[in-house]
Amino acid sequence: MAFLDKHKKIETNATLLLVLSFLVVTIGGLVQIVPLFYLENTIEKVEGMRPYSPLELAGRDIYVREGCYVCHSQMIRPMRDEVERYGHYSLAAESMYDHPFQWGSKRTGPDLARVGGRYSDAWHVDHLTNPEAVVPESVMPKYAFLKDRMLDGEHIGDLLATHRLVGVPYTDAMLENARADFRAQADPDADTDALLERYPGAQVRNFDAAPGVSEMDALIAYLQMLGTLVDFSTFIPDASR
Ligand code: HEC
Repeated sequence: MAFLDKHKKIETNATLLLVLSFLVVTIGGLVQIVPLFYLENTIEKVEGMRPYSPLELAGRDIYVREGCYVCHSQMIRPMRDEVERYGHYSLAAESMYDHPFQWGSKRTGPDLARVGGRYSDAWHVDHLTNPEAVVPESVMPKYAFLKDRMLDGEHIGDLLATHRLVGVPYTDAMLENARADFRAQADPDADTDALLERYPGAQVRNFDAAPGVSEMDALIAYLQMLGTLVDFSTFIPDASR
């Protein structure tokens, strides 16, 4: 057949085959990549996402410092077993203020993307202090020292400013009040109206039930926030994408 004869020419000429393959791959690549340049944003906007409060951000820093991501992921994949175990699959927008992101690639322990509100603060204190006391078969290390390490929030404004530098939309008011907001969130007696206006849905309480703001307070404030910002009872995926 004439068609196959022509194809034979390509198959027996390495240079011609390379040139034509390159052309085909180029066209395929362009078709996939070019439309992305015309999208304003590849992250779907969702209601409820906000920059982390100063206390939550400090907790996140401790999470990163202690390497929690080595054993825990923060990304629920859209597969049935994961969604049934952990809840709604993770949205890109949910990690848009994470620098660096905490998706992780290893699950020695469970995914933590929606751990917020799953346990009480007291459970977290007991668990972080001695995981085996709560879950006997646990291989998670002890983090009891977090309770004794106090935070004064001296540099918390700088931490927020650094995140603003890489694109997190912290306002001037957020930076100016960073230290006050940091203290107020762990103090149930504080006036928190302004804090809650700046960070809607921020949970205010003494997380470790001990005086002062400890690293334990910050870490638990962060854990209790994870996965709680987006209201999935009203979330409708944008079908136009
Ligand atoms: C060596 C691996 C390892 C490291 C490091 C680790 N964990 Fe875990 N974590 C586990 C394992 C295993 C479990 C499951 C057993 C248990 O609940 O203790 C777990 C469970 C948890 C849970 C309960 C989750 C759930 O849905 O039941 C939380 C919360 C948690 N870890 C937080 C942390 C935090 C915060 C850090 C860092 C300070 C951390 N983990 C570091 C292994 C680890």
